[in-house]
Amino acid sequence: MEALRPYLDQVHHADAREFLGQLPAESIDAVVTDPPYFLDKLDDSWTPEKATPKSYKRQQVQHLPPGMRFDPTQGKRLYEWYLPIAQQLFRLLKPGGFFFTFASPRLFHRVALAVEEAGFWIRDTFLWIYTQSQPKAMGLHHFIERLPLPAEAKQALHTRLHGWKTPQVKSVYEPIIVAQKPYTGTLLENFLAYQTGLFQTRIPVGQGMFPANLLLVEETETVLDKYFLLPKARGEPTDHPTAKPVALCQYLIELSTVPQAVVLDPFAGSGSTLIAALHSGRHFIGIEINEAYVALARKRLQEVTPPLFA
Ligand SMILES: C[S@@+](CC[C@H](N)C(=O)[O-])C[C@H]1O[C@@H](n2cnc3c(N)ncnc32)[C@H](O)[C@@H]1O
Repeated sequence: MEALRPYLDQVHHADAREFLGQLPAESIDAVVTDPPYFLDKLDDSWTPEKATPKSYKRQQVQHLPPGMRFDPTQGKRLYEWYLPIAQQLFRLLKPGGFFFTFASPRLFHRVALAVEEAGFWIRDTFLWIYTQSQPKAMGLHHFIERLPLPAEAKQALHTRLHGWKTPQVKSVYEPIIVAQKPYTGTLLENFLAYQTGLFQTRIPVGQGMFPANLLLVEETETVLDKYFLLPKARGEPTDHPTAKPVALCQYLIELSTVPQAVVLDPFAGSGSTLIAALHSGRHFIGIEINEAYVALARKRLQEVTPPLFA
């Protein structure tokens, strides 16, 4: 813990690929992170300008919405980018420590492969279900209109292709891959030595239900709420385009770590994981490459009351 102290409870403005190498081995209790998904422009070099709602709007008129332009090379690039990061995280985690990584439904298999290749065991895949999302499919109207055909032929095509759209559906879930660094001895021996490797199951979910691998943070007014709704968390609103709910991060942290544990988020964005750690009485280390998001995360952290770590 001493070697880690200078890094604790801060958002570091850095490239995670370089910064992670500075941190001491086997010092981190859990990693909860939401890396770039490598869809459309949200790859390893995004900026707020590339990801602003304004540019989304502009794109929706001319192209497919962000994240939905199909590019079969994205998965391979994501894998190659994430593997060395996962290897660093493997070095940093204590034996038995958990690595929760969000991913997109389209490319989560590549994320899981990189994580497994780095040495982790894939223990589960949680599904975060949400209802607020835009349909992604695009109609064919503009494409038909651009064809070099007489008006009647175009009209016939419109009629024939009524209802057909590009092959995307409305996305209503995100996978969270649950990986674990192999533990030493038995799970109990590992927990007694490192305080990692087990799940704390007495977290209130739904109406006091046992934790499951389906998670909700907003009411759906269906039977799902009864079983899977997480308790509300404070500190939700943010300007980051892909901010994750604090409640979700807090749940993952409290499920897998003990109080005072150290939680790392190498792709901190607006700091949702870090805020969740603070609310849970855990230490955090955040890394974020983009200055504007570093400022946003620091501002959100300052607003957390009471400040547990001054
Ligand atoms: C999906 S977002 C994380 C959002 C975050 N979960 C939140 O709730 O705000 C991914 C973040 O990773 C950052 N990022 C991308 N490449 C990075 C790198 N090499 N090192 C550190 N941060 C990086 C991006 O700037 C972006 O803010």
